Amino acid sequence: MSLKIVVFYGSARSARQGIKAARFITRQCERRGHDAALVDPLDYPLPLLDKMYKEYARGEAPETLQRLADLVVPADGYIVVSGEYNHTVPPALANLMDHFLDEYFFKCSAIMCYSAGSFGGVRAAMTLRAMLAEMGMSSIPSLMPVPKVQSAFEDDGTPTDDAWIKRADKFLAEFEWYADALKNARERACERSGCDGRDIAAGGR
Ligand SMILES: Cc1cc2nc3c(=O)[nH]c(=O)nc-3n(C[C@H](O)[C@H](O)[C@H](O)COP(=O)(O)O)c2cc1C
Repeated sequence: MSLKIVVFYGSARSARQGIKAARFITRQCERRGHDAALVDPLDYPLPLLDKMYKEYARGEAPETLQRLADLVVPADGYIVVSGEYNHTVPPALANLMDHFLDEYFFKCSAIMCYSAGSFGGVRAAMTLRAMLAEMGMSSIPSLMPVPKVQSAFEDDGTPTDDAWIKRADKFLAEFEWYADALKNARERACERSGCDGRDIAAGGR
């Protein structure tokens, strides 16, 4: 089973470290046969939220937002790579993700959290978990926390310890189970009612 996966990453700092973890998990998704796209805020420089994607008439969204929507709308699931800023989610990550809502409904998500210290960003992950549930894409039970992110991966995402590949396989196998189950359920619902995935999502809330 091959899934369309969006990997969200939300730091725009010039000295950012979490991008290494985001590159790592994107590559692991690809290694497992998925179509994975890394969404880096430097490649998708959105302003602080004005209008959400759904508030634009079809074809009227700004170019950057439309490019992002072209990934977010058809995705089967989302992996959210979150640092911990003051025990919560980095604002650039929340801003990026807040541009969408209905597009996430009835899909699954998974949290990879990280920090410079030993706790791996798990405090931010708890806030993020509540946020993702509210956004209609409840996260899978397991987290993938990365302590000392600055030394866990090379710049291109190569792990400095192969144990990360084993951990990623376990985490992604769980994500795939939920993403595939929800994908099948969405397809069955569409067959029953003749609507497309977006209609199902919009009608569900
Ligand atoms: C604004 C800010 C707040 C931070 N707050 C925390 C924190 O609450 N807990 C923690 O473990 N690390 C904290 N850190 C350190 C980060 O874990 C570390 O800088 C990490 O590399 C940030 O992710 P990034 O490099 O992808 O931006 C903070 C860093 C910044 C810039």
